[in-house]
Amino acid sequence: MEYHIRQYGLQQGALEIQYIEEYFGEFPRRKTSSEVVGRLDNRDHQILMAEAALPDDPGTVVPVAYKVSHELKVGETDPKLADLVHRLGAHVAFQNRRVLYSWIGGTRRDWRGQGFFRALTEQQEAWALDNGFDEVVVKTKNRFYAMRSTLDHLEFNVIKLEPSEEDPRESKVYLSKWLGREVLDGHRSTREVINVG
Ligand SMILES: CC(C)(COP(=O)(O)OP(=O)(O)OC[C@H]1O[C@@H](n2cnc3c(N)ncnc32)[C@H](O)[C@@H]1OP(=O)(O)O)[C@@H](O)C(=O)NCCC(=O)NCCS
Repeated sequence: MEYHIRQYGLQQGALEIQYIEEYFGEFPRRKTSSEVVGRLDNRDHQILMAEAALPDDPGTVVPVAYKVSHELKVGETDPKLADLVHRLGAHVAFQNRRVLYSWIGGTRRDWRGQGFFRALTEQQEAWALDNGFDEVVVKTKNRFYAMRSTLDHLEFNVIKLEPSEEDPRESKVYLSKWLGREVLDGHRSTREVINVG
């Protein structure tokens, strides 16, 4: 199977992200396009979306999976990102290295288990290497079991656990993957990538 991926510019990409986030009913807080623009503007970023035909209407193509990432640096002024850098401090080397933060992403329920997220992740890694990044970091929670299993399959390593005292399901898990040419050698997906906007 060949995966069809679009890599978007900021404005159009933010609208696409807002649109696809509406299909993620399991998450109470969805990202709006202005939030996406606010986060990504003025920092190196990547907005990826995979599309596929509707099973009962093969002529109609819809977005089915997405992944948004951006550079994370020491000296972030956004309070959330400054806090993230602080929490990662002892576990990620930022000095003289480029770190990519995998911010949001997912696959629509009906298209899960078909390799869309792997294809997006492999495309993210190829782009990150081409753009001089050394490491990808991502944050999740214990209770996001599907995401944890997926990150395991994609060979992300747990670098930190922040236990929740009230509920272990809410404990935060930080993971990372170091990038190198050998990462590309492990890639399996066949992808067609179109740049938009
Ligand atoms: C996690 C998620 C993105 C996976 O997307 P997907 O398109 O179904 O993933 P893929 O089909 O590309 O699978 C990638 C790998 O993960 C594995 N995997 C995916 N879902 C899995 C699950 N529920 N349990 C175990 N393994 C799983 C696949 O077997 C595959 O491994 P392989 O390529 O080595 O064979 C999707 O389930 C999702 O969007 N879930 C909700 C989002 C979420 O939990 N967000 C949490 C906030 S961090």
